[in-house]
Amino acid sequence: MRHSRILGIGHYVPPRVLTNHDLEALMDTSDEWIRQRTGIEERRVVEPGVPTSELAFQAAQNALAHAQVEAKDVDLIVVATLSPDYYFPGVGVLLQDRLGAREIPALDIRQQCSGFVYGLSIADQYIRTGTYERVLVVGAEVQSAGLDYTTRGRDLAVIFGDGAAAVVLGPSEEPGVISVHLHSQGKYFDMLWLEKPGSQSAPTITAHDLEEGRHFPHMEGQTVFKHATRRFAEAIHEVLSHNGTKVEDIDLFFFHQANLRIIDAISKMIGIPPEKSFNNLQRYGNTTAASIPLCMSEAVEQGRLQRGQLVCPVAFGSGFTWGSALIRW
Ligand code: COA
Repeated sequence: MRHSRILGIGHYVPPRVLTNHDLEALMDTSDEWIRQRTGIEERRVVEPGVPTSELAFQAAQNALAHAQVEAKDVDLIVVATLSPDYYFPGVGVLLQDRLGAREIPALDIRQQCSGFVYGLSIADQYIRTGTYERVLVVGAEVQSAGLDYTTRGRDLAVIFGDGAAAVVLGPSEEPGVISVHLHSQGKYFDMLWLEKPGSQSAPTITAHDLEEGRHFPHMEGQTVFKHATRRFAEAIHEVLSHNGTKVEDIDLFFFHQANLRIIDAISKMIGIPPEKSFNNLQRYGNTTAASIPLCMSEAVEQGRLQRGQLVCPVAFGSGFTWGSALIRW
């Protein structure tokens, strides 16, 4: 039986730090409010004009080096992002070119905060079926270019940060990716969304839309919070029961880094002790598709995540989309 496993991982965050105190100078907010409601202390932001593909490239190079795989040996690129360089074409093809990869397929996927778990599933399926040998999965975001750093946009501007992380998967006799479980519920598409530009109107964006700030993301925070808590818990129960595993069997949980309050609430609900989850949103905020692999990559660097351990990534995000996985590292 052919399985897939993660051969290597890497990340890249831009050097510029934007603290809660820096935000206080831009909008009516406070370090205390942000810490209490979200747990975030600072986030990284690019210098203006640095695109998502650049962060994706840096993270991909680090992951390839860690996996000891050369770019020319990659068979498929999957990029998860909600902040592509262009409306089209996607970041995947830009990355194919930057890496100097062969003329291989390059996908962009649009599952926001669940993007990495969806990407992992795609890579796993292509490898299991024997179609491809080496798949690069990247989560990369430049959120800062599209946020409203005024009091009007403060609910989202304080949460999101820029960053990228990548993994390289390859075939294995023993299961690395053991199972992946994915869900969506489009009914709530406009609870966390970016309305404009979009093909539901012609032209796709107007001067009036810009005045109204429709080109900035919008979130119904409390509704998202409520659904996130419920779906995170369901996704963990699903992956554990599917595999006949218990919380005690898992070495580390990797929650999508949305909000420390959500992570704490679910951990209490399910009985996950604090030492079994790795969080870094205090320093990076919510980096959407990059958040889970960014945690995993730092956990590897710090020696917290080691070969042979059993880990559970779990995500929820805009769409709504959510999912979980069980991985033997
Ligand atoms: N600084 C200061 N005040 C802020 C603020 C900010 N950055 N953002 C919002 N507020 C204000 C609101 O305007 C509101 O003021 P009002 O009571 O005068 O109307 C007040 O704070 C409370 O807002 P509310 O939205 O009820 O706060 P909350 O406790 O729900 O926390 C979030 C807001 C965004 C932190 C929270 O809803 C959340 O984390 N939601 C889920 C977000 C998430 O996980 N998103 C990603 C999913 S992948």
